Amino acid sequence: MPTAIVTGGAIRIGRAMGLHLARKGFNIALLYHSSGTAGEETIAEARSQGVQCQGYVVDLRNLEETELLIGKILNDFDDVELLVNSAANFIQENVAQTRLETLVDTLNLNLMAPYLLMREYKRKVNKGLIVNILDERVARTLPTFAAYSVSKVGLKHLTELAAVEWGKSVRVNGIAPGLILPPQGGPPDYLEKAAKKVPTGTHGSLEDLIKALDYLMGNTFVNGETLFVDGGESL
Ligand SMILES: NC(=O)c1ccc[n+]([C@@H]2O[C@H](COP(=O)([O-])OP(=O)(O)OC[C@H]3O[C@@H](n4cnc5c(N)ncnc54)[C@H](OP(=O)(O)O)[C@@H]3O)[C@@H](O)[C@H]2O)c1
Repeated sequence: MPTAIVTGGAIRIGRAMGLHLARKGFNIALLYHSSGTAGEETIAEARSQGVQCQGYVVDLRNLEETELLIGKILNDFDDVELLVNSAANFIQENVAQTRLETLVDTLNLNLMAPYLLMREYKRKVNKGLIVNILDERVARTLPTFAAYSVSKVGLKHLTELAAVEWGKSVRVNGIAPGLILPPQGGPPDYLEKAAKKVPTGTHGSLEDLIKALDYLMGNTFVNGETLFVDGGESL
């Protein structure tokens, strides 16, 4: 059975992707940080699909620890074929407001950690597919979540660099979600209100992102692509 590594896999988008992959028959290396019980519940749900699922509780901002993760996972699973980088923070500070802590945490978690995981995946796994979860903001110039946007634009560029460098052995693609889930703790009518600004007049669903993941997994001639799943919002 092949194995998928999913960061931010305990809750929301990462969870949906991890459970979908478990349903497809992948063993799952599920990385999470502070989700606690939610992480344990996701692991149990993945196992209920008849696959192996192992949780790794890790702070991806700690780059020394992050660098060692792929090696640790390969001690537990021998046939890794997929890495999904979904973990990220999302901090609303424009350029002038950005605190040093925000800048360091955001670049470490959203860009440097996927960078190191990708590099170690190439060095130690050297096959299959990497999918980086980006954001439709990568196509726009919106300063409201400045460090976040810089990190995601950087990750999109890294996706393309690695796709060119590694295409013969590892494909690397991105998914750029638009309005899918409300920010954690957001008001109940957040999605309905925000959907008015989307060309389709709707918001997307976890299912829409899963279809994008399936497409990238299934089409082996797609490499270095960023698939926007955003109802046209980025345009
Ligand atoms: N929600 C949307 O509509 C939307 C739109 C555009 C792009 N995206 C992108 O899609 C991805 C998932 O979004 P989401 O809304 O599901 O995210 P989320 O609810 O904000 O969850 C963030 C994830 O990142 C993990 N994480 C946070 N800090 C961490 C740390 N220090 N170390 C390790 N993991 C850490 C969290 O794990 P713990 O909970 O275990 O700490 C959590 O699983 C993100 O990359 C986001 O930028 C989402």
